[in-house]
Parts: sequence; structure tokens; C-alpha cells
Amino acid sequence: LRVAVLFGGRSAEHEISLLSARNVVEALDRDRFEPVLIGIDKTGRWLLQEEALLLGASRDPRLARLNQSAPDVALLAHPSPTGDAALTVGGASQAIDVVFPVLHGPMGEDGSVQGLLELAGVPYVGSGVLGSAVGMDKDVMKRLLAQDELPLVPYETVRRLAWERDPSEVLARCERLALPLFVKPANLGSSVGVTKVKTYEALADAISLAFEYDTKIVVEQGVEGAREIECAVLGDEEPIVSIPGEIVVDHPDGFYSYAAKYIDERGVTTRVPADLTDAETRAVQLLALRTFRVLEASGLARIDLFMSKSGEVYVNEINTLPGFTSISMYPKLWEASGVPPRELVARLIDLALA
Ligand code: DAL
Ligand code: MG
Repeated sequence: LRVAVLFGGRSAEHEISLLSARNVVEALDRDRFEPVLIGIDKTGRWLLQEEALLLGASRDPRLARLNQSAPDVALLAHPSPTGDAALTVGGASQAIDVVFPVLHGPMGEDGSVQGLLELAGVPYVGSGVLGSAVGMDKDVMKRLLAQDELPLVPYETVRRLAWERDPSEVLARCERLALPLFVKPANLGSSVGVTKVKTYEALADAISLAFEYDTKIVVEQGVEGAREIECAVLGDEEPIVSIPGEIVVDHPDGFYSYAAKYIDERGVTTRVPADLTDAETRAVQLLALRTFRVLEASGLARIDLFMSKSGEVYVNEINTLPGFTSISMYPKLWEASGVPPRELVARLIDLALA
């Protein structure tokens, strides 16, 4: 089977996608799957095979540590024999059986690429147009979760126009939330553009920063002493859920920031499984599965939750194309749940073809 691995992309998570793609390609069982590498550069150009390899290693020197831990063989190119064309890249028709979009953020994880693949009639890994779109938009995601009465932290949504017209109204609205606050672009991932706000004086700058990435942002109330718990989900109609893992953050940013995730070696510890009671584990897993269903996800997703000191669990968000980098929880959680990467990637592709 010819598997087109789409990676890179136009979003601010481009670099992370390059790291994820290396691991996905490495995990492809070469007895069954032949990778066709399609890199998307930051301007949106699609590059095929050897050309795509030029994107292969992240050029961001701050991410060098993650580059090194990915195997060099990961993005080996293969000349492509011609066949029935489903996708045309670089002027050449590519016979493709299935696409694995290893893309994070807008123009990749948000339903846009999924819509293109629907039009092309090519099966693809992961959520469809709707699930991808609602999962990317933290505001719409929360509204759907709230409608089904899933537990969420208090938050405010702010649109750029409202901020430009009447910042004091926006600040007053957000100051009804208790500190600390988390200010986030509505449509992005990897904590790009996210600030933890500890004083109301710092709120305006954080809002301005988030608006550099999006026209809509969310301001969330932090959970006192929150533990960050994550679950991986796999499947379509009858999805299964992994054992929960925990992210323990001890980083100067004070939260699971972009730097804490990918740049600094110290500051974050992952615990798989998370240290939870059986009842807590079941509650977290049930919430992850409900989130997956309510948000119309399919194939795969990682659900991120918060657990308060007193044990209340809140849904933070869904990630419909979660990271596959060497530090990423999605593959780690499945490995610990008895599904190693090779089998995981094969199951994801089989789900796309089913
Ligand atoms: N958005 C990043 C890639 C993640 O969720 O892992
Ligand atoms: Mg995310």
C-alpha cells in the first residue's frame, strides 16, 4: 500500500510536524506500506519525495535535541512508480492508497486538508472535516462540550474586533475569571502564543500576543494545583482508550508551554501510567471517550484533561492529530497500553481504509 505522509504545513506548528513525521515514517511496516513523502513548506508549496526531504529535519536550532533523537533513516525517499493517480504533486501524478496527514494546527489539523482529500476521493487517517474543524477551534470545541455537560474550566472567548473596539470591556469580562488565567489563540496547538497570566495587569499583553496568531482567542481560568492528565483514543465507531498519562511540569514558564514541551530538556516529566486510583482512571478514560464522541472525532485523538487537587476532572481539549515526536504522549500512551508504534500506525491506516 502506498501511504502518502503529509508533513510540514503552513501553521506555526510546522517544525513539530517535521519531528512527528519522522517517527510516523519510521514506524511504517515496510512489508505492507510504501511511504510517499509529501512535504508542505511554510508558504504552502507541496514538495514530493527527495524535494520533501529538504524539509525533513527541523531547521529550528532550538529543537536540535528532538531532531537527534529521531532516527536518520526516518525520511528515506523512494522513487515512485507511476500508477493510478489520485494526487498530483509537483506536476507528477502519484498513485496513493491512503494519506496520513501528519500535520498540526490550521491548514492541516482543522479540516481543510481533510476536505481536499474528500474531494480527491482518497482515504485518510484521522478525523473527517467536521471533527477536525471543531477539534481545532477551542471556542467551538468548548461550546459543544458544554452542551453535553462535560466539565470545563470557566472561560471567555474574545474576538479581535471586540478587543480593538473596546479593550476595557474585554478586560472587565476576563477579570471576572480567577487568576491565574491562560490566554490562548483559538486555533493552534503546542502552546504557541499561549501565556499564563498571574496578574490582571499582565492580561492585555497576553491578549495582544495571542491575537498575533488568530482572530479569536480564549481566556481560561486556571485550575488550582491542576494535574495535567492525558488519554489517547483509537478507533471509529467503537473507540478504545489508553491508560492515562500525566505531565508533571516544573518549568520557569509555570505551565506546559512550547519551551517546556520541546526545547528545554529539564522541566517536564511524563508519568505513564499516571498515578491515579482505579476509580480516577476509569473516570478520566470515560471522559476522554465522551469527548471523542461529542466532538465527532474518528481514527485517533489525544484528550488533555486537568485534575484539581480535590480530584475534579475537567476537559482541557482534544487534539485530532496529536504529536508523534519523541516526547509525544500519543504513541507513548499506546505503547504502555500494549500497542507499540508499528502496530499503532498500521491500525490507524487500516481504520482509514475500513
Ligand atoms: N499539537 C501538538 C502537536 C500535540 O497536540 O501534540
Ligand atoms: Mg492542542
